[in-house]
Amino acid sequence: KPRLYSGMQPTNDSLHVGNYIGALVQWRKMQEEYDAFFSVVDLHAISVPQDPKELREKTRRTAAQYIAAGIEPEKSTLYVQSHVPAHAQLAWVLGSITGFGEANRMTQFKDKSSRYGSDATNVALFTYPILMASDILLYQTDAVPVGDDQRQHVELTRTLAERFNSRFGETFVVPEATIPADSARIYDLQEPTSKMSKSGESPQGILWLFDEPKAMQKKIMRAVTDNDGIVAFDREAKPGVSNLMAIYSSLTGATPTQVTAEFDGRGYGDFKKAVAEAVIAELEPVRARALELLDDPAELDRLLAVNAARATEVADATLADVYEKVGFLARR
Ligand code: TYM
Repeated sequence: KPRLYSGMQPTNDSLHVGNYIGALVQWRKMQEEYDAFFSVVDLHAISVPQDPKELREKTRRTAAQYIAAGIEPEKSTLYVQSHVPAHAQLAWVLGSITGFGEANRMTQFKDKSSRYGSDATNVALFTYPILMASDILLYQTDAVPVGDDQRQHVELTRTLAERFNSRFGETFVVPEATIPADSARIYDLQEPTSKMSKSGESPQGILWLFDEPKAMQKKIMRAVTDNDGIVAFDREAKPGVSNLMAIYSSLTGATPTQVTAEFDGRGYGDFKKAVAEAVIAELEPVRARALELLDDPAELDRLLAVNAARATEVADATLADVYEKVGFLARR
């Protein structure tokens, strides 16, 4: 089976609908055909300040949401990044073949560092994409399902894999990003031209997986739309309506044309009600299952430990090969 690798940061108590539709839904499908590795990337999370107690809890909560969304820890390897030391070790080696200018061209770093200011920005935020390359390359990954915002990081990963292979000999599989259709990109309900984001500004614009159904309903009914009253897909002219259509289409399987036909002559109120129903029908069971898993943290931790052992085996084999190739003296 070809290999798959992906991950998410445990930076909030809850993942959001963008993470769900843009990532988890693809992961769930792809785990059938791939030997899949899914990590909760806590090393990445500390590239912005985290409260230690909360980070531990958010890490568990993120893992619980993966499982609740249908990632099967017996079929796929679902683990916590910091449980596998090879991630940090390979990142150091990859840092030695990454140009400073090359790292400096990563747009996500530019966005984030300009948001926090250069004094509040740490070096880990700068080297973040190198750690992400390490995640992917340790597992000899073929496919990396990520949202469009991560495309540049996967490009850098490919560049580093090719560079290492040509300098030190065939070592890494060169991975491909698997970017879902445009309709899987979800925007903020209040600001439908910016991506739904865990660090989003407007609390009413983000649908969290742990939101109560009532809260979800309210946010969707209050989502920003426009004045045409026509349910049609046009990201440029009708970003709010298009975003709701994208959510609705991804959850129901209806194409935008079918959605337009379904709500012809019916106004946004009706449409929003249907979107809310679809979202709640899909996510309420996910929320319930995640809460159930979190009721037994010891069992969750046990599952994560078993999976981390499986991940370590694969990662350590790659790391040993890399250490040998770069000329580190073997410890005998
Ligand atoms: P993160 O934690 O920001 O996001 C997790 C995944 O969710 C996708 N996503 C979205 N998709 C659609 N609409 C949205 N509004 C939306 N917001 C987020 C992201 O594209 C991502 O796929 N650097 C990564 C984590 C990472 C990783 C890796 C991923 C670390 N190592 C190795 C793949 C492979 C990140 O910060 O994702």
